[in-house]
Amino acid sequence: MKSLNPQIHLVSRPVGEPVVDNFKLLELPLPDLQDGQVLVRNHFLSLDPYMRGRMNEGKSYAQPQPLNQVMLGGTVGVVAASKYAAYAEGDTVLTMGGWQHFCVLDANQRGSLQKVDARQIPLSAFLGALGMPGVTAWYGLVKIIAPKPEETVVVSAASGAVGSVVGQLAKARGARVVGLAGGAEKCRYVQEELGFDACIDYKQHADVKSLSAALKSACPDGIDGYFENVGGQILDAVMSRANPFSRVAMCGMIAGYNGEPIPMSAPQLILINRMKIEGFIVTEHLDVWPEALKELAALLTAGRLKFRESVSEGLASAPEAFLGLLKGRNFGKQLVRLI
Ligand SMILES: NC(=O)c1ccc[n+]([C@@H]2O[C@H](COP(=O)([O-])OP(=O)(O)OC[C@H]3O[C@@H](n4cnc5c(N)ncnc54)[C@H](OP(=O)(O)O)[C@@H]3O)[C@@H](O)[C@H]2O)c1
Repeated sequence: MKSLNPQIHLVSRPVGEPVVDNFKLLELPLPDLQDGQVLVRNHFLSLDPYMRGRMNEGKSYAQPQPLNQVMLGGTVGVVAASKYAAYAEGDTVLTMGGWQHFCVLDANQRGSLQKVDARQIPLSAFLGALGMPGVTAWYGLVKIIAPKPEETVVVSAASGAVGSVVGQLAKARGARVVGLAGGAEKCRYVQEELGFDACIDYKQHADVKSLSAALKSACPDGIDGYFENVGGQILDAVMSRANPFSRVAMCGMIAGYNGEPIPMSAPQLILINRMKIEGFIVTEHLDVWPEALKELAALLTAGRLKFRESVSEGLASAPEAFLGLLKGRNFGKQLVRLI
């Protein structure tokens, strides 16, 4: 009898907020391994905000997640069987293994999987600080904001996978760093553990005026760089404190991922302050990944890059954990342990 592979499919598209019924857990037989293929046992699945966008059908920078197929997603795992010479049983690998226990990969296709050395660094870190979120932080900070020492950098979703790295990279470059996060516990972590100069609990501020006042006291010299993960009122408040020639790295706008309107109330500030606002998609900048990963690995092994993970247990927990990520229930990089 063939082995079964538990997996989660997207079975309907959400209208507004996703619900667990958009997903279905199935057990399908594993296909036989062909020449050139590798079988990987996924150990950790990464849950990421971009998955919400792919659940929609409309036009975007990436293809929609197809219905009735395994949910796409980054994974780290161990090669369980190989019919491709470059990979051997027991190799630790990073791949887009999806929401499932096992994945079969065509190893001769460029970029389909990549060996990672998990002897010194925990395997899960290759999905977070030493993976796509870490490189995202690096790209937006280094290539778009490019902070000078003494400048002030603000980052939203500061305790999260991307935001936490942004702040630590900015501190390493001598900037003053101010985070925005939801709740006292996250703010305490951002300041005390990650070493940000200040962190504002945006949930304590009901409107732009109040948040803007909090930013004024946390950023007495104004804001030179903003790493945007959220959008909406938070962006408006930051814009109201932005300095001339400030730079904004438009990384994500999670406040609008379920279709909520997130208008920008004062776009004239872009002109008045001669601001640079640049959006980016990290997977379109593969050329910088080696440089970014080199710096991130060096900081991590020197103990200068800290990270935190929210690990939910078992494949069946993935839909709830994903919905939680969109509501800020995660505290650090959201993962699912699959083994
Ligand atoms: N451009 C790219 O290539 C790229 C690549 C990776 C990620 N991203 C973007 O980067 C951002 C952060 O991703 P991540 O993986 O690091 O996620 P994350 O920060 O680990 O988790 C998401 C966080 O967003 C905050 N959040 C959720 N809903 C919110 C709302 N309505 N208003 C304000 N904050 C809200 C929550 O933190 P609080 O509890 O603090 O509110 C939540 O913990 C996302 O926007 C993502 O789409 C972009």
